Amino acid sequence: MEKREIRVAMLGFGGIAKSHKRGYERLEKQGVPIKLVAVCDIDAEQFTKAAKINLDGTPKWDLSRQKLYTNVDAMLKEQDIDMVDICLPTYLHKEYACRMLRAGKHVLCEKPMALSSADCAEMLSTARECGKKLMIGQCLRFEPLYLFLKDAIDKNTFGKVKYAMFDRLSSHPRWGFEGWYRDTARSGGAVMDLHIHDVDMVRFLFGEPRAVSAVSYDTETRWAVINSRFHYDDDKLVVANASWDESRTISFNMSYRVNFEQAEVKLESGKITVYPNEGEVYQAELPSADRMAEEIKYLAMSILEGTENVTNPPESAMATVKLVEQLRESADNDGKPVIV
Ligand SMILES: NC(=O)c1ccc[n+]([C@@H]2O[C@H](COP(=O)([O-])OP(=O)(O)OC[C@H]3O[C@@H](n4cnc5c(N)ncnc54)[C@H](O)[C@@H]3O)[C@@H](O)[C@H]2O)c1
Repeated sequence: MEKREIRVAMLGFGGIAKSHKRGYERLEKQGVPIKLVAVCDIDAEQFTKAAKINLDGTPKWDLSRQKLYTNVDAMLKEQDIDMVDICLPTYLHKEYACRMLRAGKHVLCEKPMALSSADCAEMLSTARECGKKLMIGQCLRFEPLYLFLKDAIDKNTFGKVKYAMFDRLSSHPRWGFEGWYRDTARSGGAVMDLHIHDVDMVRFLFGEPRAVSAVSYDTETRWAVINSRFHYDDDKLVVANASWDESRTISFNMSYRVNFEQAEVKLESGKITVYPNEGEVYQAELPSADRMAEEIKYLAMSILEGTENVTNPPESAMATVKLVEQLRESADNDGKPVIV
Protein backbone atom coordinates (compact mmCIF):
# COMPACT_ATOMS: atom_id res chain seq x y z
CA MET A 1 0.00 0.00 0.00
CA GLU A 2 1.33 3.44 -0.96
CA LYS A 3 0.85 6.74 0.87
CA ARG A 4 -2.59 7.54 2.26
CA GLU A 5 -3.25 10.48 -0.04
CA ILE A 6 -2.46 10.72 -3.74
CA ARG A 7 -1.01 14.09 -4.68
CA VAL A 8 -1.72 14.99 -8.30
CA ALA A 9 -0.38 17.50 -10.79
CA MET A 10 -2.18 18.31 -13.99
CA LEU A 11 -0.22 18.89 -17.16
CA GLY A 12 -2.07 21.03 -19.71
CA PHE A 13 -4.99 23.20 -18.64
CA GLY A 14 -6.92 23.64 -21.90
CA GLY A 15 -10.38 22.35 -22.85
CA ILE A 16 -10.73 18.94 -21.22
CA ALA A 17 -8.58 19.77 -18.17
CA LYS A 18 -11.44 21.86 -16.78
CA SER A 19 -13.64 18.75 -16.65
CA HIS A 20 -10.85 16.87 -14.85
CA LYS A 21 -10.57 19.77 -12.39
CA ARG A 22 -14.27 19.40 -11.57
CA GLY A 23 -13.65 15.67 -11.08
CA TYR A 24 -10.97 16.37 -8.42
CA GLU A 25 -13.28 18.81 -6.63
CA ARG A 26 -16.03 16.19 -6.56
CA LEU A 27 -13.68 13.52 -5.22
CA GLU A 28 -12.38 15.78 -2.48
CA LYS A 29 -15.97 16.45 -1.38
CA GLN A 30 -16.58 12.68 -1.34
CA GLY A 31 -13.54 12.24 0.92
CA VAL A 32 -11.51 10.25 -1.61
CA PRO A 33 -7.85 10.56 -0.55
CA ILE A 34 -6.68 12.46 -3.62
CA LYS A 35 -5.63 16.07 -3.95
CA LEU A 36 -4.88 18.22 -6.99
CA VAL A 37 -1.89 20.21 -5.76
CA ALA A 38 -0.41 21.72 -8.92
CA VAL A 39 -1.31 22.62 -12.48
CA CYS A 40 1.13 23.31 -15.31
CA ASP A 41 0.40 24.88 -18.69
CA ILE A 42 2.97 26.58 -20.90
CA ASP A 43 0.36 29.21 -21.68
CA ALA A 44 -0.40 31.05 -18.41
CA GLU A 45 -3.53 32.58 -19.99
CA GLN A 46 -5.15 29.15 -19.78
CA PHE A 47 -5.41 29.50 -16.01
CA THR A 48 -7.97 32.28 -16.42
CA LYS A 49 -9.29 32.02 -19.99
CA ALA A 50 -12.87 30.78 -20.51
CA ALA A 51 -13.00 27.44 -22.28
CA LYS A 52 -15.73 26.26 -24.58
CA ILE A 53 -15.44 22.73 -25.93
CA ASN A 54 -18.08 20.50 -27.44
CA LEU A 55 -18.69 18.70 -24.16
CA ASP A 56 -19.63 21.26 -21.61
CA GLY A 57 -19.88 24.93 -22.42
CA THR A 58 -17.96 27.29 -20.17
CA PRO A 59 -17.38 25.80 -16.74
CA LYS A 60 -16.04 28.01 -13.95
CA TRP A 61 -13.03 26.94 -11.97
CA ASP A 62 -10.98 28.06 -9.02
CA LEU A 63 -7.23 27.46 -9.00
CA SER A 64 -6.58 29.29 -5.72
CA ARG A 65 -5.63 26.06 -3.91
CA GLN A 66 -3.25 24.80 -6.58
CA LYS A 67 0.30 25.92 -7.25
CA LEU A 68 0.51 27.06 -10.86
CA TYR A 69 3.46 26.51 -13.21
CA THR A 70 4.39 27.19 -16.79
CA ASN A 71 7.39 24.89 -16.66
CA VAL A 72 7.01 21.19 -15.96
CA ASP A 73 10.57 20.69 -14.67
CA ALA A 74 10.11 23.46 -12.09
CA MET A 75 6.88 21.81 -10.99
CA LEU A 76 8.49 18.39 -10.61
CA LYS A 77 11.40 19.91 -8.69
CA GLU A 78 9.25 21.81 -6.20
CA GLN A 79 6.30 19.51 -5.68
CA ASP A 80 6.02 16.12 -4.05
CA ILE A 81 3.71 14.49 -6.59
CA ASP A 82 2.52 10.88 -6.90
CA MET A 83 0.53 11.10 -10.12
CA VAL A 84 0.46 13.31 -13.20
CA ASP A 85 -2.78 13.84 -15.10
CA ILE A 86 -1.83 14.57 -18.72
CA CYS A 87 -4.34 16.75 -20.56
CA LEU A 88 -1.98 17.78 -23.36
CA PRO A 89 -2.72 17.68 -27.10
CA THR A 90 -2.52 14.12 -28.44
CA TYR A 91 0.81 14.54 -30.28
CA LEU A 92 2.49 15.19 -26.90
CA HIS A 93 1.04 12.19 -25.03
CA LYS A 94 3.84 9.72 -25.67
CA GLU A 95 6.68 12.13 -24.93
CA TYR A 96 5.22 13.46 -21.67
CA ALA A 97 3.76 10.18 -20.43
CA CYS A 98 7.19 8.55 -20.81
CA ARG A 99 8.92 11.54 -19.17
CA MET A 100 6.57 11.51 -16.19
CA LEU A 101 6.85 7.71 -15.76
CA ARG A 102 10.64 8.00 -15.85
CA ALA A 103 10.39 10.73 -13.22
CA GLY A 104 8.75 8.10 -11.00
CA LYS A 105 5.13 9.29 -11.31
CA HIS A 106 1.96 7.32 -11.95
CA VAL A 107 0.26 8.66 -15.07
CA LEU A 108 -3.31 9.26 -16.15
CA CYS A 109 -3.16 10.32 -19.80
CA GLU A 110 -6.09 11.58 -21.84
CA LYS A 111 -7.33 9.55 -24.80
CA PRO A 112 -6.28 8.69 -27.46
CA MET A 113 -3.32 6.95 -25.84
CA ALA A 114 -1.05 8.20 -28.66
CA LEU A 115 -1.07 8.85 -32.39
CA SER A 116 0.12 5.33 -33.29
CA SER A 117 0.12 1.87 -31.75
CA ALA A 118 3.94 1.91 -31.97
CA ASP A 119 3.99 4.96 -29.67
CA CYS A 120 1.50 3.22 -27.35
CA ALA A 121 3.84 0.21 -27.14
CA GLU A 122 6.66 2.54 -26.05
CA MET A 123 4.45 4.02 -23.32
CA LEU A 124 3.52 0.55 -22.09
CA SER A 125 7.10 -0.66 -21.95
CA THR A 126 8.17 2.52 -20.14
CA ALA A 127 5.43 2.02 -17.53
CA ARG A 128 6.55 -1.59 -16.99
CA GLU A 129 10.23 -0.63 -16.77
CA CYS A 130 9.50 2.13 -14.25
CA GLY A 131 7.04 0.05 -12.23
CA LYS A 132 4.45 2.83 -12.36
CA LYS A 133 0.74 2.76 -13.23
CA LEU A 134 -0.40 4.14 -16.56
CA MET A 135 -4.06 4.58 -17.39
CA ILE A 136 -5.66 6.20 -20.44
CA GLY A 137 -8.73 8.40 -20.15
CA GLN A 138 -11.16 6.20 -22.08
CA CYS A 139 -13.78 7.83 -19.93
CA LEU A 140 -16.85 6.12 -21.39
CA ARG A 141 -15.80 3.02 -19.47
CA PHE A 142 -16.84 4.99 -16.37
CA GLU A 143 -19.95 6.66 -17.83
CA PRO A 144 -23.30 5.40 -16.43
CA LEU A 145 -24.99 5.98 -19.81
CA TYR A 146 -22.71 3.31 -21.31
CA LEU A 147 -22.35 1.14 -18.20
CA PHE A 148 -26.11 0.56 -18.42
CA LEU A 149 -25.50 -1.10 -21.79
CA LYS A 150 -22.51 -3.07 -20.51
CA ASP A 151 -24.60 -4.41 -17.64
CA ALA A 152 -27.53 -5.33 -19.92
CA ILE A 153 -25.20 -7.19 -22.29
CA ASP A 154 -23.22 -8.97 -19.56
CA LYS A 155 -26.38 -10.02 -17.67
CA ASN A 156 -28.36 -10.83 -20.82
CA THR A 157 -31.18 -8.63 -19.43
CA PHE A 158 -32.97 -8.18 -22.76
CA GLY A 159 -31.62 -11.23 -24.60
CA LYS A 160 -29.00 -11.19 -27.33
CA VAL A 161 -28.01 -8.09 -29.27
CA LYS A 162 -29.36 -8.05 -32.84
CA TYR A 163 -27.76 -4.77 -33.84
CA ALA A 164 -25.98 -1.85 -32.21
CA MET A 165 -25.40 1.61 -33.68
CA PHE A 166 -23.34 4.38 -32.13
CA ASP A 167 -23.06 8.05 -33.14
CA ARG A 168 -20.67 10.80 -32.04
CA LEU A 169 -21.17 13.94 -34.09
CA SER A 170 -19.69 17.39 -33.79
CA SER A 171 -18.65 20.39 -35.81
CA HIS A 172 -14.89 20.78 -36.25
CA PRO A 173 -13.21 21.67 -32.91
CA ARG A 174 -12.51 25.41 -32.94
CA TRP A 175 -10.49 25.51 -29.75
CA GLY A 176 -7.07 23.91 -29.24
CA PHE A 177 -3.42 24.84 -28.68
CA GLU A 178 -1.83 26.18 -31.90
CA GLY A 179 -4.64 24.71 -34.03
CA TRP A 180 -3.57 21.11 -33.34
CA TYR A 181 -7.05 19.62 -33.88
CA ARG A 182 -7.07 20.92 -37.45
CA ASP A 183 -3.85 19.10 -38.34
CA THR A 184 -4.24 15.37 -39.02
CA ALA A 185 -0.57 14.79 -38.18
CA ARG A 186 -1.11 16.14 -34.65
CA SER A 187 -4.69 15.02 -33.89
CA GLY A 188 -5.11 11.87 -36.01
CA GLY A 189 -8.38 13.25 -37.40
CA ALA A 190 -11.89 12.64 -36.04
CA VAL A 191 -11.38 8.89 -36.33
CA MET A 192 -8.55 8.95 -33.76
CA ASP A 193 -9.84 11.80 -31.63
CA LEU A 194 -13.63 11.40 -31.50
CA HIS A 195 -14.55 8.03 -33.00
CA ILE A 196 -12.04 6.34 -30.69
CA HIS A 197 -14.58 6.61 -27.84
CA ASP A 198 -17.06 4.38 -29.69
CA VAL A 199 -14.35 2.09 -31.08
CA ASP A 200 -13.19 1.51 -27.52
CA MET A 201 -16.79 1.06 -26.31
CA VAL A 202 -17.52 -1.53 -29.01
CA ARG A 203 -14.48 -3.53 -27.82
CA PHE A 204 -15.51 -3.06 -24.16
CA LEU A 205 -19.05 -4.29 -24.83
CA PHE A 206 -18.56 -6.99 -27.45
CA GLY A 207 -14.89 -7.94 -27.32
CA GLU A 208 -12.49 -8.06 -30.25
CA PRO A 209 -14.13 -8.09 -33.70
CA ARG A 210 -12.94 -10.57 -36.34
CA ALA A 211 -12.56 -7.78 -38.92
CA VAL A 212 -13.39 -4.12 -39.42
CA SER A 213 -14.37 -2.04 -42.42
CA ALA A 214 -14.99 1.67 -42.89
CA VAL A 215 -15.78 4.40 -45.36
CA SER A 216 -14.82 8.00 -44.72
CA TYR A 217 -14.85 11.55 -45.96
CA ASP A 218 -12.07 14.13 -45.65
CA THR A 219 -12.42 17.82 -44.91
CA GLU A 220 -9.51 19.98 -43.73
CA THR A 221 -8.48 16.88 -41.76
CA ARG A 222 -8.42 13.31 -43.00
CA TRP A 223 -11.12 10.82 -41.87
CA ALA A 224 -13.27 13.71 -40.65
CA VAL A 225 -16.49 11.74 -41.20
CA ILE A 226 -16.42 7.98 -40.80
CA ASN A 227 -18.84 5.07 -40.87
CA SER A 228 -17.31 1.93 -39.35
CA ARG A 229 -18.49 -1.64 -39.22
CA PHE A 230 -17.24 -4.18 -36.68
CA HIS A 231 -17.59 -7.77 -37.97
CA TYR A 232 -18.25 -10.49 -35.38
CA ASP A 233 -18.56 -14.24 -35.78
CA ASP A 234 -22.25 -14.23 -34.86
CA ASP A 235 -24.82 -12.39 -36.98
CA LYS A 236 -25.13 -9.16 -34.94
CA LEU A 237 -24.56 -5.92 -36.80
CA VAL A 238 -22.34 -3.35 -35.06
CA VAL A 239 -21.73 0.02 -36.69
CA ALA A 240 -20.55 3.43 -35.51
CA ASN A 241 -20.47 6.89 -37.04
CA ALA A 242 -18.36 9.88 -36.17
CA SER A 243 -18.21 13.32 -37.67
CA TRP A 244 -16.25 16.51 -37.28
CA ASP A 245 -18.22 18.06 -40.12
CA GLU A 246 -21.64 18.77 -38.64
CA SER A 247 -23.15 22.17 -39.18
CA ARG A 248 -22.01 24.77 -36.65
CA THR A 249 -25.68 25.20 -35.69
CA ILE A 250 -26.01 21.57 -34.55
CA SER A 251 -24.96 20.75 -30.98
CA PHE A 252 -22.55 17.95 -30.11
CA ASN A 253 -24.42 14.64 -30.12
CA MET A 254 -23.54 11.28 -28.65
CA SER A 255 -26.16 8.59 -28.97
CA TYR A 256 -26.76 4.91 -29.55
CA ARG A 257 -29.50 2.48 -30.27
CA VAL A 258 -29.11 -1.17 -29.44
CA ASN A 259 -31.78 -3.61 -30.44
CA PHE A 260 -31.88 -6.71 -28.26
CA GLU A 261 -34.14 -9.74 -28.75
CA GLN A 262 -36.60 -8.44 -26.13
CA ALA A 263 -36.18 -4.65 -26.13
CA GLU A 264 -34.60 -1.73 -27.90
CA VAL A 265 -32.46 0.64 -25.83
CA LYS A 266 -31.78 4.17 -27.01
CA LEU A 267 -29.51 6.90 -25.71
CA GLU A 268 -30.75 10.27 -26.91
CA SER A 269 -30.13 13.74 -25.46
CA GLY A 270 -28.41 12.33 -22.38
CA LYS A 271 -31.29 9.96 -21.49
CA ILE A 272 -31.69 6.22 -21.91
CA THR A 273 -35.11 4.96 -22.95
CA VAL A 274 -35.98 1.27 -22.96
CA TYR A 275 -38.61 0.15 -25.48
CA PRO A 276 -39.59 -3.41 -24.53
CA ASN A 277 -41.26 -5.62 -27.13
CA GLU A 278 -44.00 -6.19 -24.51
CA GLY A 279 -45.03 -3.74 -21.75
CA GLU A 280 -44.40 -0.10 -20.96
CA VAL A 281 -41.68 2.14 -22.32
CA TYR A 282 -39.50 3.47 -19.48
CA GLN A 283 -36.49 5.66 -18.78
CA ALA A 284 -33.47 4.07 -17.16
CA GLU A 285 -32.57 5.41 -13.71
CA LEU A 286 -28.85 6.01 -13.47
CA PRO A 287 -26.44 6.98 -10.69
CA SER A 288 -25.40 10.64 -10.91
CA ALA A 289 -21.74 9.77 -11.41
CA ASP A 290 -19.28 12.00 -13.25
CA ARG A 291 -17.15 9.93 -15.64
CA MET A 292 -14.03 12.06 -15.15
CA ALA A 293 -14.25 11.78 -11.36
CA GLU A 294 -14.90 8.05 -11.60
CA GLU A 295 -11.92 7.36 -13.87
CA ILE A 296 -9.59 9.42 -11.65
CA LYS A 297 -10.90 7.64 -8.55
CA TYR A 298 -10.43 4.24 -10.17
CA LEU A 299 -6.75 4.89 -10.88
CA ALA A 300 -6.16 6.51 -7.48
CA MET A 301 -7.68 3.54 -5.65
CA SER A 302 -5.67 1.07 -7.72
CA ILE A 303 -2.51 2.99 -6.72
CA LEU A 304 -3.50 3.16 -3.04
CA GLU A 305 -4.67 -0.43 -2.77
CA GLY A 306 -2.22 -1.94 -5.25
CA THR A 307 -5.07 -3.53 -7.22
CA GLU A 308 -4.92 -4.48 -10.87
CA ASN A 309 -6.56 -2.20 -13.41
CA VAL A 310 -9.07 -4.58 -15.00
CA THR A 311 -11.65 -2.02 -16.18
CA ASN A 312 -9.42 0.12 -18.35
CA PRO A 313 -5.92 -1.32 -18.76
CA PRO A 314 -3.50 0.58 -21.02
CA GLU A 315 -2.99 -2.59 -23.09
CA SER A 316 -6.64 -2.31 -24.06
CA ALA A 317 -6.31 1.41 -24.89
CA MET A 318 -3.44 0.45 -27.19
CA ALA A 319 -5.60 -2.23 -28.86
CA THR A 320 -8.22 0.46 -29.49
CA VAL A 321 -5.63 2.69 -31.19
CA LYS A 322 -4.59 -0.31 -33.30
CA LEU A 323 -8.22 -0.88 -34.32
CA VAL A 324 -8.50 2.78 -35.36
CA GLU A 325 -5.42 2.26 -37.55
CA GLN A 326 -7.16 -0.72 -39.16
CA LEU A 327 -10.34 1.29 -39.73
CA ARG A 328 -8.27 3.96 -41.47
CA GLU A 329 -6.63 1.27 -43.62
CA SER A 330 -10.05 0.01 -44.66
CA ALA A 331 -11.32 3.54 -45.34
CA ASP A 332 -8.28 4.17 -47.53
CA ASN A 333 -9.14 1.02 -49.50
CA ASP A 334 -12.74 1.90 -50.21
CA GLY A 335 -14.13 -0.09 -47.31
CA LYS A 336 -12.27 -3.37 -47.90
CA PRO A 337 -12.48 -5.37 -44.64
CA VAL A 338 -9.29 -5.63 -42.60
CA ILE A 339 -8.82 -8.79 -40.56
CA VAL A 340 -8.08 -7.89 -36.94
N1 LIG B 1 -12.11 12.42 -22.74
C1 LIG B 1 -12.72 13.26 -23.54
O1 LIG B 1 -13.93 13.17 -23.74
C2 LIG B 1 -11.92 14.33 -24.23
C3 LIG B 1 -12.57 15.49 -24.68
C4 LIG B 1 -11.77 16.48 -25.27
C5 LIG B 1 -10.40 16.29 -25.43
N2 LIG B 1 -9.83 15.12 -25.00
C6 LIG B 1 -8.39 14.87 -25.21
O2 LIG B 1 -7.66 15.65 -24.26
C7 LIG B 1 -6.43 16.10 -24.82
C8 LIG B 1 -6.36 17.62 -24.71
O3 LIG B 1 -7.43 18.19 -25.46
P1 LIG B 1 -7.92 19.70 -25.19
O4 LIG B 1 -9.16 19.87 -25.98
O5 LIG B 1 -7.95 19.96 -23.75
O6 LIG B 1 -6.72 20.49 -25.88
P2 LIG B 1 -6.33 22.03 -25.67
O7 LIG B 1 -5.50 22.40 -26.83
O8 LIG B 1 -7.57 22.80 -25.36
O9 LIG B 1 -5.47 22.00 -24.33
C9 LIG B 1 -4.13 21.59 -24.30
C10 LIG B 1 -3.37 22.48 -23.32
O10 LIG B 1 -2.02 22.03 -23.25
C11 LIG B 1 -1.17 23.18 -23.15
N3 LIG B 1 0.17 22.81 -23.59
C12 LIG B 1 0.63 22.58 -24.83
N4 LIG B 1 1.91 22.17 -24.80
C13 LIG B 1 2.27 22.12 -23.49
C14 LIG B 1 3.46 21.74 -22.83
N5 LIG B 1 4.54 21.33 -23.51
N6 LIG B 1 3.50 21.83 -21.48
C15 LIG B 1 2.41 22.27 -20.78
N7 LIG B 1 1.25 22.62 -21.37
C16 LIG B 1 1.18 22.54 -22.72
C17 LIG B 1 -1.84 24.22 -24.02
O11 LIG B 1 -1.45 25.53 -23.69
C18 LIG B 1 -3.33 23.95 -23.75
O12 LIG B 1 -3.82 24.76 -22.70
C19 LIG B 1 -6.40 15.58 -26.25
O13 LIG B 1 -5.66 14.40 -26.33
C20 LIG B 1 -7.87 15.31 -26.56
O14 LIG B 1 -8.06 14.28 -27.52
C21 LIG B 1 -10.55 14.17 -24.39
